[in-house]
Amino acid sequence: MMFSLTLLLLILIAILADRLLRQSLLSPLTKVPGPWYARFTSLVLKWNELTANRTRYIHGLHRRYGPAVRIAPTELAFASAAAVKEVYCSGGSGYDKTEFYDLFTVYGRRTMFTTLNKGDHAKRKRILADRYANSNIVRQPSLDGITERAANFVARCDESVTGSGSLDIFVYLHSYAFDCVTHHLFHPYGANSLQSKQDEEIMREVTFDDSLQNRLVQYYSPTLHSLFGTLLSAFAKPRETPLADEFVLETSARTDTAAFTVLNRLNEAGPPADMEPIDIAAECLDHMAAGIDTTGDALCFLMWELSQPRSLRYQTRLREEVLMMANPTGGAGFDKLAYLDAVVMEGLRCFPAIPMSLPRYVPRGGRDIDGYFVPEGTVVSCQAYSVQRIDEGVFPDPDTFNPDRWLDPKGDAERKRLFFAFANGGRGCVGKHLALAEMKMLLCAVYSRFETRPDESMAPEEMEMSDQLISSRPLGQRCLLRFLPVGCHRGE
Ligand code: HEM
Repeated sequence: MMFSLTLLLLILIAILADRLLRQSLLSPLTKVPGPWYARFTSLVLKWNELTANRTRYIHGLHRRYGPAVRIAPTELAFASAAAVKEVYCSGGSGYDKTEFYDLFTVYGRRTMFTTLNKGDHAKRKRILADRYANSNIVRQPSLDGITERAANFVARCDESVTGSGSLDIFVYLHSYAFDCVTHHLFHPYGANSLQSKQDEEIMREVTFDDSLQNRLVQYYSPTLHSLFGTLLSAFAKPRETPLADEFVLETSARTDTAAFTVLNRLNEAGPPADMEPIDIAAECLDHMAAGIDTTGDALCFLMWELSQPRSLRYQTRLREEVLMMANPTGGAGFDKLAYLDAVVMEGLRCFPAIPMSLPRYVPRGGRDIDGYFVPEGTVVSCQAYSVQRIDEGVFPDPDTFNPDRWLDPKGDAERKRLFFAFANGGRGCVGKHLALAEMKMLLCAVYSRFETRPDESMAPEEMEMSDQLISSRPLGQRCLLRFLPVGCHRGE
């Protein structure tokens, strides 16, 4: 008995030693620089994920070790244009996604975002892509909805001037994004959370979600999660969005939405793409969620930065350009404003709403990435936060917000190659044109009417980046700004 136990123990030790030896000394990944412990364990990485700090942790490693880093025994992070091209663009849509995306399935269904392999993704994208093409976004009925919602946001700014003196733009920019994306999904049944408290509650449920730790346990240990889920939820909240679910399940059952909407396209898809009602609802909920935090947080970080004394000259230049337009608060004129474009690009460079890694599996046979041979099955990723600041030749003084850098024709191609806020390739953000239209329209509407300043009660730490599962939001989950009306508005 004693002998067989000792033998068993020895066998276990031998297996473990063999695994450690392979990982730490014999794997081709040993050639990739990184901290010593990453050869043996992913615990440090996981700890940073649990404490909402993954992006900054990986960025610190890039600064220390360069654009290719081993971050765990079978995981690498890259931050170069060559790696972005290989991982996200090779063969059109790059490498397949990892099971990390299972965490985002909706009603138990895979959506375009959560399909893992190329084939499934291409089928779904074929149905949806045209509703997000720029030509569809800048059509009048679509644009009118955004103009109207930007005016609703401005009405909130007006109220703050005569009321409390400041406005929590974290809340109302998420409302704006919610109203805009649901307009594009469901018009005339889109939400109106800038004016209706009931709709605002739906936005709050999605925006103030605090399920990071619970969902990470679900990802790393599904068995533990299913056995002790109830106990766990006493310490780490699960994601629960009953109001949003009800809104989407009801609204996505409609068959009479406007021609430009996503739901209209899903309803008309027909065979062979035939989608069951629950698939249609899942796709709509996914786009709704994808469109709220991203655009809301991107605008929030950007307006906070524009309001700082160090950035007031950029705000002034932006206002001057916007006021030159015949109709600064309507139409598609925003699309031609070079400085507005530079401000938005720089905002998304410094504060990408999805700054985090987008994990992919290296395909069969392995691949060469950025000069390293990487075996099949290795998890590889790039994160926008690092891709957009690690190369100081392309982005000098990378931590400084400076829209003017985008106006220099020299280096334009290099800057664009390293712009990764919407990812890249066939699986890049399908909502990019909608998001840009929303952002630009809102900035025109606000800065043609107001100067903005931070409210004195705000502490800078409140605006630090707090990582969620894939996106980041301001740590304090509030952002108070003061809106000072400008006297020389042309449209008045
Ligand atoms: C500033 C705003 C936005 C940013 C920075 C952003 C960023 C991104 C990024 C980085 C991805 C790739 C994610 C990955 O590979 O894991 C993505 C995908 C996606 N985004 Fe956005 N997004 C924004 C706004 C929107 C909006 C308004 C929508 C509206 C529906 C949207 C819908 C989607 C969808 C459906 C996907 C999945 C695309 C696919 O897998 O083919 N996004 N977005």
